Amino acid sequence: MAVSDPAIARLSNVGHHFGGTAVLSDVNLQLAAGEIVAIVGPSGCGKTTLLRITAGLLAPTRGEVSRPEHRIGFVFQEPALLPWRRVEANAHLLAASDDGSMVEQLLSVSGLADHRRKWPHELSGGMKMRLSLVRSLAARPQLLLMDEPFGALDQITRNRLHDEFASLHASQKFSALLVTHAIDEAVYLADRVLVMSGAPGRIMQEFDIDFARPRAAGLRYSPEFTSLCGAIAESLQLQAGRA
Ligand SMILES: Nc1ncnc2c1ncn2[C@@H]1O[C@H](COP(=O)(O)OP(=O)(O)OP(=O)(O)O)[C@@H](O)[C@H]1O
Ligand SMILES: [Mg+2]
Repeated sequence: MAVSDPAIARLSNVGHHFGGTAVLSDVNLQLAAGEIVAIVGPSGCGKTTLLRITAGLLAPTRGEVSRPEHRIGFVFQEPALLPWRRVEANAHLLAASDDGSMVEQLLSVSGLADHRRKWPHELSGGMKMRLSLVRSLAARPQLLLMDEPFGALDQITRNRLHDEFASLHASQKFSALLVTHAIDEAVYLADRVLVMSGAPGRIMQEFDIDFARPRAAGLRYSPEFTSLCGAIAESLQLQAGRA
């Protein structure tokens, strides 16, 4: 990639196999500055593998990944917390010293402020996930890779965090690749939704999401929103049927 390439990350003809099994095939993807791209696809189709390749945690067996010097955040499907640090210390771990109040705000909207003195093993699964998300956002990443970060949360917390995430995105302008099984979440948060097929995983269809920002919670109940979700669900069902 040339230094002048405006893409934050670019995958060209990426393929991957584990042993003899092809997991990804011919993936082309570029992420523009500030763009949020959501990926949906059947379980096992290679979404986590694609995120790991994008992050540089795994070298693809085919194709190229360009990812200039950007600060990358990764919210793993299994929350990765430091067990010997309390909630508050985990939250502040990657934040700059003058970002303390931003981290406190994140702890409060994610409902963790009252649990700040707990140890990770004393948290529920959803709380661990929220803390992991808070910690990644607190580092002000330029590229944020998220693997089902809202998956384990109840609907109300999830929707609140969606809005908090969107407002942080509006102020910090990071790019994000969001893997999710929730179509409404993909449509609410993303600029584009990519639908993957399984075995091997490929990007089969792309949906542009043009709703103006900031998006308000009521958007979820509009006919345009619902019909877009329906079209993506249909596409996904088609891919799942193929897998
Ligand atoms: N380290 C590994 N070694 C061998 N096979 C692997 C490895 N990691 C993943 N796989 C296989 O690659 C395929 C894709 O896995 P991946 O975790 O990327 O799927 P996914 O789309 O994230 O699934 P889910 O939605 O269930 O999280 C699966 O068949 C999985 O068994
Ligand atoms: Mg996965």
